[in-house]
Amino acid sequence: MKETDIRRFPVYGGGGSVGIFDSGFGGLSILRGLVDVLPQYDYVYFGDTARTPYGTRSSEAIYAFTEQAIDFLFNKGCHIIILACNTASSEALRRLQQEYLPRHFPDRKILGVIIPSAEEAVSVTKNKKIGVIATAGTIASGAFERELQKLNPEIMVVEKACPLLVPLVEAGEDDPIVTQLILSNYLDPLLSQHIDTLILGCTHYEFLVRDIQYIVGDNLNIITQGRVLTKSFKDYLKRHCELEGKLGKKSKLSFFSTDLSDKFTVLGSKFFGRTIIPEHVRLD
Ligand code: DGL
Repeated sequence: MKETDIRRFPVYGGGGSVGIFDSGFGGLSILRGLVDVLPQYDYVYFGDTARTPYGTRSSEAIYAFTEQAIDFLFNKGCHIIILACNTASSEALRRLQQEYLPRHFPDRKILGVIIPSAEEAVSVTKNKKIGVIATAGTIASGAFERELQKLNPEIMVVEKACPLLVPLVEAGEDDPIVTQLILSNYLDPLLSQHIDTLILGCTHYEFLVRDIQYIVGDNLNIITQGRVLTKSFKDYLKRHCELEGKLGKKSKLSFFSTDLSDKFTVLGSKFFGRTIIPEHVRLD
């Protein structure tokens, strides 16, 4: 297994990759969607598995960790980075775009997951009642509520922090009774507000979508980010031809993580749908 020290990386000059950052392996749901629909590009996935979960950490810690990850991905040759992590998108994206990018990489881009998810939800809701489930950090940031109401001030947003769901997914728990008990506890208060649309505002929740669908029924729109992000990223590249032209198109996939437990390889491969062999990175 190779060990990588980020400070030794030169800035790479070839065709740029698309970087996907998540606090763990949940963002593989987003990478999977991208690779299915846009297989021609080169992707670098980075999961900060040694420091996950981010969802219970302070804003400052989330910003500092995310900036380190972004540094790593840009120095690894990425031209565009998608913050697949909702917690990082809520707590760090704006500052990275306004302060970090102009100072360090003015010709590169960082995209988040909150706005595309909010746009999709607003476009499908009929009764204007949208539920959001996410980590405690994302809910506390108010990012979803802000973006949804910016799109339509008449939207009623019902939010619920679900701190047990990330550990549930990370534990590979597949007992449907345990899963549905925990999910019902979180979802019942949202359903009692008659939401017609539910945003799964955390990378990991996509892996619970069937259990969630079972509880909420077929008449509720579930917004999953793998699908939404793929659609919005495809549109983004069409609108930014100059950036698209700089991207490498050799279908290369690389995976990096800050902790190489078997969990990343086993669960990561399960969630990505193909075998993953990550390389270890030290960010200290
Ligand atoms: N990736 C995070 C997110 O989407 C969830 C896991 C965590 O708390 O770090 O919010």
